[in-house]
Amino acid sequence: MTTTDETLAPKMHAELLDGTPENIQRCAAALLEGQLLAFPTETVFGLGAAVTQLHAVRQIFKAKGRPSEHPLIAHVAPGADLSGWVAHISPTMQKLMDAFWPGPLTLVVPRGEHMPLEVTGGQNSVGIRCPSHPVAIELLKAAGVPVAAPSANRFGKVSPTRATHVLAELGDRIPLILDGEVPQVGIESTIVSLLGEQVAVLRPGAITAAHIEAVLGMSVKTHAEVSKTPHANPRVSGALEKHYSPDAKVLVLQASELQEFRVQQVTLCVGWSDSFLAQADQLRTQNPDVQVEALNNQPSEVARALYATLRQADELNCGQVLFEMPPATTEWEAVLDRLKRASA
Ligand code: TXA
Ligand code: MG
Repeated sequence: MTTTDETLAPKMHAELLDGTPENIQRCAAALLEGQLLAFPTETVFGLGAAVTQLHAVRQIFKAKGRPSEHPLIAHVAPGADLSGWVAHISPTMQKLMDAFWPGPLTLVVPRGEHMPLEVTGGQNSVGIRCPSHPVAIELLKAAGVPVAAPSANRFGKVSPTRATHVLAELGDRIPLILDGEVPQVGIESTIVSLLGEQVAVLRPGAITAAHIEAVLGMSVKTHAEVSKTPHANPRVSGALEKHYSPDAKVLVLQASELQEFRVQQVTLCVGWSDSFLAQADQLRTQNPDVQVEALNNQPSEVARALYATLRQADELNCGQVLFEMPPATTEWEAVLDRLKRASA
């Protein structure tokens, strides 16, 4: 038997804590003492460290297996004083904060002098967001400093929308997982850059370019336009072509393609339209290895269920998951984006 540092190191067993006021206080104190912990947000669970605790911030990258030049999002409580954390608050930033915070919108803005470069991946900009999840809000209020947090999954894997997902992936690497109501949005926040002449969507999410345009009264570069520009920001990990992947192979198909599909392994079909679900049911009738998961026919509902469904495919030991192709409309853009990356 070989002994390595890894086998000798004591294995951690994360404690799962309900989001009670006492547990939230305990977690805030742990953050300020330099511990890492996972906590719920309205999008997905985050793996948090107080930005003032550089050792803990570095541990985030280790626990996730994520490259250290990838910037983290700094989370703040509603009404938090941002001075020192961001360089200044432009009128555009103020309008977006007023309209969408607390909520699933991350603003990339010039970094303030107190925001460590460890958080921003060495860049002079910082991604900042105020989540709306009640447990996240209380935790951030109690901590009193911004909390850097990427999604609480291993690098490249599916973002967690349940405390049990975090436990399965990071339970041996972090001491605490704070739980709370199930994330209502289900996919990561929209990220917009306020650095250029035009506001630009770096990652699509529940808040669309159209929502932002309506508030600002000016045109916003959509994620589709941003992706067309050569050398579009590669520092957004969600921008890597392959990301959000379960072990099962993900195929994104139209109902008509399902008709001709030859099933050769355990397969989960996930759809929402009558035509797709009818084809999926037919496949199931022909083949006992096929299971069907019907989602509600709304982009927000599909987003909410998306990651848990991808994980379910692995739990059911499926070799593949056949996901319905979303329509090419802006309201489905974020779901389509995640599915494309999961299937890359
Ligand atoms: O909904 C969310 O945003 C979740 C929850 C936990 O808040 N967080 C999340 O974090 O998705 P993460 O690290 O998985 O994705 C954050 C993205 C990264 O792709 C990162 O590159 C980008 O935000 N980002 C952060 N700061 C940035 C900056 N200064 N410039 C460009 N991109 C930035
Ligand atoms: Mg992530």
